[in-house]
Amino acid sequence: MRLAWLHLHSFRSYPALEWRPDPGVNILVGRNGAGKTNVLEAIGFLANLRSFRGAPEETLIAHNAETAVLRGEESDAQALVEVEITRKGGRRTRIGQKSIGRTSDLRSALRTVAFLPDDLDLVKGSPAGRRELLDDVATQIWPGAALDQAEFDRTLRQRNAFLKQGDRDPATLEVWDTRLAQAAAKVMGRRARAAAALEETLVESYGRIAGEETSVRFAYQSDWGGTLDPTTPASEWAKSLTGALRERRRLDFELRTTGSGPHRDDPAISLGGQGSRHQASQGEQRTLALALRLATHRAVSLQTDRLPLLLLDDVYSELDPDRSKALTDALPEAQTFVSTTRLDEVPVPGRAWQVSEGDIR
Ligand SMILES: Nc1ncnc2c1ncn2[C@@H]1O[C@H](COP(=O)(O)OP(=O)(O)OP(=O)(O)O)[C@@H](O)[C@H]1O
Ligand SMILES: [Mg+2]
Repeated sequence: MRLAWLHLHSFRSYPALEWRPDPGVNILVGRNGAGKTNVLEAIGFLANLRSFRGAPEETLIAHNAETAVLRGEESDAQALVEVEITRKGGRRTRIGQKSIGRTSDLRSALRTVAFLPDDLDLVKGSPAGRRELLDDVATQIWPGAALDQAEFDRTLRQRNAFLKQGDRDPATLEVWDTRLAQAAAKVMGRRARAAAALEETLVESYGRIAGEETSVRFAYQSDWGGTLDPTTPASEWAKSLTGALRERRRLDFELRTTGSGPHRDDPAISLGGQGSRHQASQGEQRTLALALRLATHRAVSLQTDRLPLLLLDDVYSELDPDRSKALTDALPEAQTFVSTTRLDEVPVPGRAWQVSEGDIR
């Protein structure tokens, strides 16, 4: 995949940007606040319809404007992607002349894998970040996964809304349990398969950054059913989650919320047989965080036969010389966007661009 050009109108600090990046490596250089991350965020938004900073949509619109427009062309498939964000919360998305309603359609036109300054949280932080990583990998590989996730989120909200009403009718809850378990089983199945796909590429990418072979496992674990095997049929999971929901029923009525399910599961990564979150060293955790992004890129490339764009937001300033070199050597041949305040910190050869005052030169 190649982004041939990018147009931004009233997107964050860019009143009007027209930019033709290089098909290879692009290095965006500029002082703090110049707008480097904003560009990477815009490219990520065109691919995923959400900000990799987790920013609410209205914050993406330039302060003095009502509407932000992002437009880009992917040159391999010649797909023209356009997104319009409005303050009223409406969003229009088009590929070519066709309006699309779902992120899944967009994903196949443009995919990105982003290395972010907070990536260490993937390893050290709470399970939510790892669940999000698996969901991200799953939707990049199987675009339909986004629909299953939306269906699960909606059903969970409805079950929780019922519990909040304080109505203790078990028959009604039983109906929600069945629906929730069916939606959940699809999400869990995709996550378990995504974890398996990542585990396969993770061993190699970890080895490349660490410079030595280590066993790396990525298991999808639930708090109610133990480790979930990716080959287990969805019906089995639905059944065991239904059982877990029934067992917790009194507690759920009491706490008025759903205590078991994919929204509570803990995908766990282990290094050399030990849990990475609490037992790995700081250095091992850093290496693992980089390896996870590399492994994601590799897994998505293998499964989809296309190379996602790479976004590296201020990653090199945090790395020691050894990891910096190892990462550079391990980077795939994809179109790449690197942001930095200092060009001499980036060891990757590429085309340097100066970013300032809403422009890239
Ligand atoms: N909605 C918006 N409208 C106008 N300007 C915005 C908006 N959102 C953010 N900005 C501006 O964009 C700038 C931040 O840009 P960005 O995060 O891309 O900087 P950066 O070049 O990555 O800096 P750093 O090197 O510190 O990471 C800030 O100065 C902020 O005021
Ligand atoms: Mg930045």
